[in-house]
Amino acid sequence: MAQNITVIGTGYVGLVSGVGLADFGNTVTGVDIDASKIERLSRGEEVIYEHGLRDYLHRNIESGRLRFSTDIRGSVAGSDIVFIAVGTPESEDGSADLSYIGSAIRDIAASLSGFTVVVTKSTVPVGTNRWIGDEIRAQAPDADFAVVSNPEFLREGKAVQDFFHPDRLVIGYEEGTEQGKKARELMEDVYRALYLIETPIVWCSLETAELIKYASNAFLATKITFINQMANLAEACGADIHAVAKTMGMDGRISPKFLHPGPGYGGSCFPKDTKAVVSTGNRFGVQMSLIEEVIRANERQKELTADKLKTMLGDPAGKTVAVLGLAFKAETDDVRDSPAITMVGMLRSWGAAVQAHDPEAMENFSKLFSEGVTYFESEFEALKDADALVVLTEWNAYRNLDLKKAHSLMKGRVILDARNALDPDEARQLGFTYRGVGR
Ligand SMILES: NC(=O)c1ccc[n+]([C@@H]2O[C@H](COP(=O)([O-])OP(=O)(O)OC[C@H]3O[C@@H](n4cnc5c(N)ncnc54)[C@H](O)[C@@H]3O)[C@@H](O)[C@H]2O)c1
Repeated sequence: MAQNITVIGTGYVGLVSGVGLADFGNTVTGVDIDASKIERLSRGEEVIYEHGLRDYLHRNIESGRLRFSTDIRGSVAGSDIVFIAVGTPESEDGSADLSYIGSAIRDIAASLSGFTVVVTKSTVPVGTNRWIGDEIRAQAPDADFAVVSNPEFLREGKAVQDFFHPDRLVIGYEEGTEQGKKARELMEDVYRALYLIETPIVWCSLETAELIKYASNAFLATKITFINQMANLAEACGADIHAVAKTMGMDGRISPKFLHPGPGYGGSCFPKDTKAVVSTGNRFGVQMSLIEEVIRANERQKELTADKLKTMLGDPAGKTVAVLGLAFKAETDDVRDSPAITMVGMLRSWGAAVQAHDPEAMENFSKLFSEGVTYFESEFEALKDADALVVLTEWNAYRNLDLKKAHSLMKGRVILDARNALDPDEARQLGFTYRGVGR
């Protein structure tokens, strides 16, 4: 049976989930405190860059199953299920900032009517869903509701595909309670389309669901950091990290995924989630020393990448560096904690000028850096008269970069390929001083 759903927060997770849940046949209202976002979404404008999103957005708005509103309380009052998909950024002390969750809860508690399932999609530390339940009960003692933890695993850039074909669904609920039982039935209904394509569904406790999400992200961040350090070692000792990673990946226990060396992980999840794991460990008196070191090593990797360029360039003061790639990874416009922030920041502090290009992320990046950075509509314009080229994001357009043209446009002959996206032999044959990562 189709359900009436409110999704609170229309960012990367909330928007994609809302669109997907509507496509499953549910009636969905996406709500947000950002009125301009809601206005643009209501017109069918995507507010984020995400492959394939536009068609689903238009289709579901036109079918009448999907709408957008700033009336959070009105929408919650008419819903069977409320998904919370607001941000949980990093606080100053590294813990997850739950203030957006807190404000969403106030709206929920003020407007629940009839039995409602409150589903947390945001990434929240262990214990948060119980706290959400306690808060709602304190603010609305008569409310009839259940809390469910349904962490999201979608990858930016592949979010639509991941929503419709997840590796698994994780649903934490309060087993053994009447409310929990009703919540499970409603969640089965909501995700029937995924159940029918045999998506594994993991039913577990609230705490287990919360920890699964953090453990997964912390593990992936560790895997990236591991291969980055191995790449640094390979580079120093003359080994080829690609052959190393590929062969490691042939071992079924290891898997070839997330073994690509680069300038350090970034994005809106790994940096804050690794810190939140450490903070949760502290709260429970459990040392998370491995994750602490991953966080430090990743920061070092970002700085090492900039230092490497400095070594290649000589004194960067007065030089011009073309930075290709500002997003934290390809296929997204997200620049949160992107390695480009460290690179551009360090180049600026050394007195270099930056000529930047990114197919999707320039608008977001220009909110962080305006002075000393010039943004260009094409990668070739950014290369003009540059002393050095650094590739920071693995966009396909850069993999196919015409190096001959780059050679004719650039003043200098330095290439730092922090994603191993270019052809080193071709670059060297053209006379560039080329360095990649770990090869
Ligand atoms: N981005 C990802 O790839 C990803 C993947 C998995 C999980 N997550 C988690 O999902 C959550 C959301 O991440 P995101 O990247 O979609 O964030 P985002 O910043 O893109 O979107 C959050 C949205 O919530 C809105 N918002 C904030 N407070 C609100 C409130 N009280 N009421 C209504 N709207 C409110 C904001 O205006 C914004 O539009 C985070 O906890 C994140 O860790 C993100």
